[in-house]
Amino acid sequence: MKNAAVVILAAGQGKRMRSAAPKVLHRIAGRPLVAFPLALAGSLSARRVVVVVGYGREAVEAAVASLPGGGGVRFAVQEEQRGTGHAVMAALPLLAGHEGPVLILSGDVPLLGRSSVAALFKAYARSGGRLAFIEFEPADPSGYGRVIRDESGAVVAIREDRDCSRAERRIAEVNSGIYAVDAGFMRRGVRKLKADNDQRELYLTDLVSLAARRGTAGVASAPPDEVCGVNDRADLARIEAIVLAGRTLELLRGGVTIRRPGTVQVDLDVRVGTDVELGAHVTLCGSTEIGDGCRVETGAVIADSKIAAGAVIKAYSVLEGASVGPGAIVGPFARLRPGTSLDENVHVGNFVEVKNTRLGRGSKANHLAYLGDGDIGAGVNVGAGTIFCNYDGYQKHRTVLEDDVFIGSDSQLVAPVRVGKGAYVASGSTITKDVPPDALAIARGRQKNKERAAPALRRALAARKKREGRT
Ligand code: UD1
Ligand code: MG
Repeated sequence: MKNAAVVILAAGQGKRMRSAAPKVLHRIAGRPLVAFPLALAGSLSARRVVVVVGYGREAVEAAVASLPGGGGVRFAVQEEQRGTGHAVMAALPLLAGHEGPVLILSGDVPLLGRSSVAALFKAYARSGGRLAFIEFEPADPSGYGRVIRDESGAVVAIREDRDCSRAERRIAEVNSGIYAVDAGFMRRGVRKLKADNDQRELYLTDLVSLAARRGTAGVASAPPDEVCGVNDRADLARIEAIVLAGRTLELLRGGVTIRRPGTVQVDLDVRVGTDVELGAHVTLCGSTEIGDGCRVETGAVIADSKIAAGAVIKAYSVLEGASVGPGAIVGPFARLRPGTSLDENVHVGNFVEVKNTRLGRGSKANHLAYLGDGDIGAGVNVGAGTIFCNYDGYQKHRTVLEDDVFIGSDSQLVAPVRVGKGAYVASGSTITKDVPPDALAIARGRQKNKERAAPALRRALAARKKREGRT
């Protein structure tokens, strides 16, 4: 397997997906489909990896280049998608000089494992080093190419579903679209392909009958789940469920408590420490990292965020691009947007939205607040209903609260503004000017109490109601 070249076929649009996006960019557990065969190629330390692109090629190339191992990939362009055989022809110039086996993978078959590839290479060797493919028996073979055998049981051809006779359609054994082919045989073989089929395409599968005529076509089998392809969104959902179930099992075994495994989604690139507890319906995606001993409660959604050890993310909180320090407590129902950074032991409570703001060690904003574009020091208390008025309709401005500041409830801080260390802002204030350190700022209307005025007011109001004929 070591000296093989790998070709990944990824030029097709995937019409059955009914999508503007190329099929191989649809995601499974956070990774595009094409990432899976690419990772497999990487694990085989292939000599070279060629990805055949066509439909949506700029997007596919960019996605591949950004994946691990994507930097060394070469792209072959298949301008018009005239079939899988035609796709391999497009790859030939980039395989120049390569001798020996070429492993052909399909961009839409994500679950293929190394042991099945090893079995394929054994079958390849048995074929005399010419060609072998992987067959399997799906629950429903419709749509797949059927494996046609002669009376002796030798493989003679692969026939596409739409080209099959009725009797052939009853064959349960199908082609997975994964092949190991000798480079020389492949070069000579693809030149002979003809589009004499229902789709008027050049079928790679015709290399199988060619190999059978020259001697034997090797065949290996694999479990259906490993080689089933993604052709529509139902396939995508089914395969994603398999991947996510595998991921939760791996986490459970690795020391993570998961309350209702079937409801939890942990994408493949997420890292989770030990003694972490995940509640039901938790979603962890992107590059998220959860440190040891964290608790993430029911319904929390965390994307591209870093949660340090011992932090608690309470129910139904939504985090995106945030960093949460050790021992911090977030939620329930908190929203942390990109650029949020909470230091050690910070508390952010219910209905608090934080964006592009740092909260220093031990600071608290426990109820109903909007903290945008701020810099909050350590030991600060932000009262209920506080709003950082950061946007004047044209530009964003910063609010700075130095260490040990106390912001009384229902205050607005009109940015740009700075509250000095240890200062106090009285409840209900609208702060528009900087507050010096240790000052008490009060910025609200003064209260006047009129003694014994309430009974007279009540009488006047009742009389008016009667005049207007209301009851
Ligand atoms: C193909 C096989 C079929 C097999 C099935 C397994 C052929 C003719 N048929 O059918 O025997 O049972 O896979 O999943 O090979 N592609 C290109 N350029 C093209 C056409 C396709 O790069 O011109 C790529 C697609 O992006 C995809 C792969 O080749 O990644 C397979 O193409 P698809 O159209 O899905 O083939 P199937 O009809 O599934
Ligand atoms: Mg397919």
